[in-house]
Amino acid sequence: VFIRILGERTGLTPAGEREVLIEHVAIVAAIEHFTAMVGDWLLNANAVDDAGAHPVMLDLLRWHGAEEVEHRCVAFDLAAHLDPGYPRRVRSMAIAFPVLVWLWVRGARFLAAADTDGTAFRMTWRAAFAAARRGLLPAPGAVARRGLRYLSPSYHPSQDYSTRKAVEYLGYSPPPEPRSTSR
Ligand SMILES: [Fe+2]
Repeated sequence: VFIRILGERTGLTPAGEREVLIEHVAIVAAIEHFTAMVGDWLLNANAVDDAGAHPVMLDLLRWHGAEEVEHRCVAFDLAAHLDPGYPRRVRSMAIAFPVLVWLWVRGARFLAAADTDGTAFRMTWRAAFAAARRGLLPAPGAVARRGLRYLSPSYHPSQDYSTRKAVEYLGYSPPPEPRSTSR
């Protein structure tokens, strides 16, 4: 999917190449809108600490989340510099949002079914909503609102989330011991 959307194209004129490059940067900026959301969610999702995840895997995930929050403006600023127009921002979100949702659904189903230690289960929408209520997944409604937020003409990624908090986690990781004391 990513190669089809963001892969190189051949046989283009220089103007066509430039257009494809700008389009790709804009799509990456729209994707980063959600990676920053997931990153901030991971930094604040305390319920995840007590859900039985391996602390090293959780730190790896959270480190990546912090890194996504830390660089959340980079692709957006470059895309706005290359094409400040509003239509491209709308178009890039219209591409990124359904593709990401599709990948998340597919990925979650794959991972839930793949466990070989007897904990495999069928990931359904009902299970996803139940997990979100327990603080173990971002709420689907919040994800949809996050997508709509990108369509505000005055939006800039610096308006959301805390770079200080993200950088603090990057400095703290890997933790000397798991954050949770319940294990
Ligand atoms: Fe990123």
